[in-house]
Amino acid sequence: MGNLKSVALPLLLAVSIMHLPFSESLWFFNYHIHVTNDLPLLNSPPGKPNLFLRCKSKNKDIGLRAMVKGQDYTWDTKINLSQTTLFFCNARWEGRKSRSFDAFVANRDDRRCSVYHMSCMWSVREDGIYFSRNNATWFNEYPW
Ligand SMILES: *[C@@H]1O[C@H](CO)[C@@H](O)[C@H](O)[C@H]1NC(C)=O
Ligand SMILES: *[C@@H]1O[C@H](CO)[C@@H](O)[C@H](O)[C@H]1NC(C)=O
Repeated sequence: MGNLKSVALPLLLAVSIMHLPFSESLWFFNYHIHVTNDLPLLNSPPGKPNLFLRCKSKNKDIGLRAMVKGQDYTWDTKINLSQTTLFFCNARWEGRKSRSFDAFVANRDDRRCSVYHMSCMWSVREDGIYFSRNNATWFNEYPW
């Protein structure tokens, strides 16, 4: 009977987590957010950063980065219990364009970013900032 007790509690816990509606058990998961610099080089030399990206939430600043072509800006987040987790970014394409976009919004991204390795994938391109849920098909969600 001693053994039963040590098995029963974790089992009960696991079962109760599984029985929660999906959105209520999200605090359990860790999401990876990727923003890749896929801008064309045009006239800039390959080793020179052409994208300046800064992402943050109300409480956490991931930092400003100068990115060269092909570079990936990435961080992790969980969804907090109030399900209000929000990360936004400002992207500046040196000398050309600038805009802000929401890189992670709990109630928009909880499901779509769980499709592929718990990842939200963004690609900064010539005509806008693209999103992919599967790292294969891309949509221009934030045209410049
Ligand atoms: C949930 O996260 C958001 C942003 O990530 C933050 O503003 C809010 O204070 C957090 N709420 C709690 C209860 O931690
Ligand atoms: C997406 O695919 C590319 C290659 O097609 C790969 O280099 C990259 O690591 C993938 N991204 C993730 C987040 O797995």
